[in-house]
Amino acid sequence: MKLKTKIAGLLPLLTAVLLSCSAQGQPDSYSKNPKINRKVDSLLQLMTLKEKIGQMNQYNGFWDVTGPGPKDGNAKVKYDHLREGLVGSMLNVKGVEQVKAVQKIAVEETRLGIPLIIGFDVIHGYKTLNPIPLAEAASWDLDAIKKSSSVAAAEAAAAGINWTFAPMVDISRDARWGRVMEGAGEDPFLGSKIAKARVEGFQGNDLSAPNTIAACAKHFAAYGFSEAGKEYNTVDIGSSTLYNTVLPPFKAASDSGVKTMMNSFNELNGVPATGNAYLLRDILKGKWGFKGFVVSDWASIKEMVTWGYAQHKKDASRLAALAGCDLDMESNAYVFELETLVKEGAVKEAIIDEAVRRILTVKHELGLFEDPYRYCDAKREKTVINSKAHHAAALDMAKKSIVLLKNENQLLPLKKKGQTIALIGGLAADTNSPLGSWRLASKDSTAVSVLQGMESYKGNKLIYAKGADVNKSETEFTIHIKLNTDDKSGFSEAVAAAKKADVVVMVLGEHGFQSGEGRSRTELGLPGVQQELLEAVYAVNKKIVLVLNNGRPLTINWANNHVPTIVEAWQLGSQTGHAVAQVLYGDYNPSGKLPMTFPRNVGQIPIYYNYKNTGRPVSEQSNNPDFVFWSHYSDVENSPLFPFGHGLSYTTFKYKNIKRSKATYRLNETVSVTCDISNTGKLKGKEVVQLYIRDLHASVTRPIRELKGFKQIELAPGETQKVSFTLTKDELGFYNNTGNFVVEPGKFEVFIGGSSYTSLKTTFDLK
Ligand code: BGC
Repeated sequence: MKLKTKIAGLLPLLTAVLLSCSAQGQPDSYSKNPKINRKVDSLLQLMTLKEKIGQMNQYNGFWDVTGPGPKDGNAKVKYDHLREGLVGSMLNVKGVEQVKAVQKIAVEETRLGIPLIIGFDVIHGYKTLNPIPLAEAASWDLDAIKKSSSVAAAEAAAAGINWTFAPMVDISRDARWGRVMEGAGEDPFLGSKIAKARVEGFQGNDLSAPNTIAACAKHFAAYGFSEAGKEYNTVDIGSSTLYNTVLPPFKAASDSGVKTMMNSFNELNGVPATGNAYLLRDILKGKWGFKGFVVSDWASIKEMVTWGYAQHKKDASRLAALAGCDLDMESNAYVFELETLVKEGAVKEAIIDEAVRRILTVKHELGLFEDPYRYCDAKREKTVINSKAHHAAALDMAKKSIVLLKNENQLLPLKKKGQTIALIGGLAADTNSPLGSWRLASKDSTAVSVLQGMESYKGNKLIYAKGADVNKSETEFTIHIKLNTDDKSGFSEAVAAAKKADVVVMVLGEHGFQSGEGRSRTELGLPGVQQELLEAVYAVNKKIVLVLNNGRPLTINWANNHVPTIVEAWQLGSQTGHAVAQVLYGDYNPSGKLPMTFPRNVGQIPIYYNYKNTGRPVSEQSNNPDFVFWSHYSDVENSPLFPFGHGLSYTTFKYKNIKRSKATYRLNETVSVTCDISNTGKLKGKEVVQLYIRDLHASVTRPIRELKGFKQIELAPGETQKVSFTLTKDELGFYNNTGNFVVEPGKFEVFIGGSSYTSLKTTFDLK
């Protein structure tokens, strides 16, 4: 191999360098493997300043790599950079043939032959699509989530990719923000567990294995708190929220060994995250000891000029490099500006060395130096991608992600025989929308639609009527409120079908492209004419099962007040239709729980379960309409439509006997709490048992509830199980306003139940 030959030719020099390193003491090292650290040091010594800066440069795919190289313009400049060893990474180059072609240039045409790291947004699968991340979070099933990420990694790795820009671990309390579909919802505890599961799923035990890839926790930090849910907006949060809500999932990802982190687009306290040394140097690389590298978000270095934080691109490059942003994604800034900045003394070469060390370490850990074509096996690409096993895993994940929000009169599960079922809604027959947003590698219109899923059950008569579409047209960038359809010409057919039916199943909600990046919305009802369709059908047949498709919580007050049964089915990926049909027919008993609160109306947002009590909370007087001076709205109640943690089953569960092992514990003692859960219904079912605490008095006010444990159990009818939880200082403490983790004595309440609204509680003291 050419690379090996090159390095071998430089051996005498490398040995000299190694000796000089140990003589001068060890420089910072980023791998647990000392061999890798030595190799990184050696290589660094061989690199010119320009080549080092090249490693800090990432370009988006810029030409059809299987054709000739570009002859002029920007693409030609980038192409020359690639051949001169001035590109360390590329994104959006995918497929063995394409990746091999760019890798070949890096390895065979550049002076040192350093391989590229190839990044891609593998957000919820590569070609086989799993449910959108928010949906997966609703499973609360960490093993399944880990498996889903490992399947995504295996497919991406088989297509030449070795780095995903996932998981997004941004906590958000704002359903207006379109990117909530990419995250794990509103809670830092659940979010941290899921961050860990996803990192472990992508990276596996051996990063150099051909089926694992480097993960990237993003967007560091606080992007989910974009003001008013408006995309790319400023963020203005206090330190308590930063330390206790925003940062924990990033810390969990860092502690799980995530190899990279991505900056966020927002500013924090007036400093854009990409140039935020407090976030990157003090917290991430300092306090947490993060060993991977930090990539900017797309053009976020140069956007610091637009923010009014940097004067020009050169200034932005200086600020980003000093702050600790190691790799420039598509600002085209570092590669043009850093060399001069170093020469002028504005950026020390040690800063460059640190960034390059971090980047080269990850490349080594991926095994790219041993074999730069490790991820480029065309045979594997054919067999691994879209394999049966991957689709089976996607189906399993999809079923686990469904949340039964409401089921009056046990309309579900559907009877399997002798029924006439009307299936209504454009989304019901859609094979594209269920794939959701962020599916850059998959083929359009490859999902199993709900209609197809329902058709595989033969015992009933199924009548499909579209009623209405969501949108007039459908491409990734034409889904816009202005394009919501106003066409009601299908209503009469839908109403006629509903009249004949024993049960009506309506699939309504958002199109898959209505959430995701750049898809903030201020109205969260059913888009287009779907609400009118629902009401028209309801007028003739009230036995409606509403199946929601959406990438975020919606405001479905009317539906909740009228429709007996509501199933939250998100966008569930490739196997959507089978998953939905199996749940509707009871072949899978739903077990999901909401990872995000559903508001009654948009005015309640931000609404979340772990709010503070305030000085004027609800009280006995609150029922008196003449009493107004308490924390509430006068036109809507405080409670949400569906709280965090809510989700029903076709069976029922009863919680009783909550007990702690003692009344008083010392600060460093482990608290044990148990509770008995019984299946009081007629079917076997799974339940996510949730534990919340409330720290009644502290030096910084604490939320009225905080999730601190959950366990999934399965119970046969009539069965009871005792579930035990332990709470250590990790669960009982919190971050104070200087970012230090503290555990304070005092009284605690513990709640156990099937949602954040449980009232079953016990108390204990910490002394
Ligand atoms: C997004 C990132 C993404 C990147 C590369 C940006 O616009 O914010 O999450 O990874 O593009 O596609």
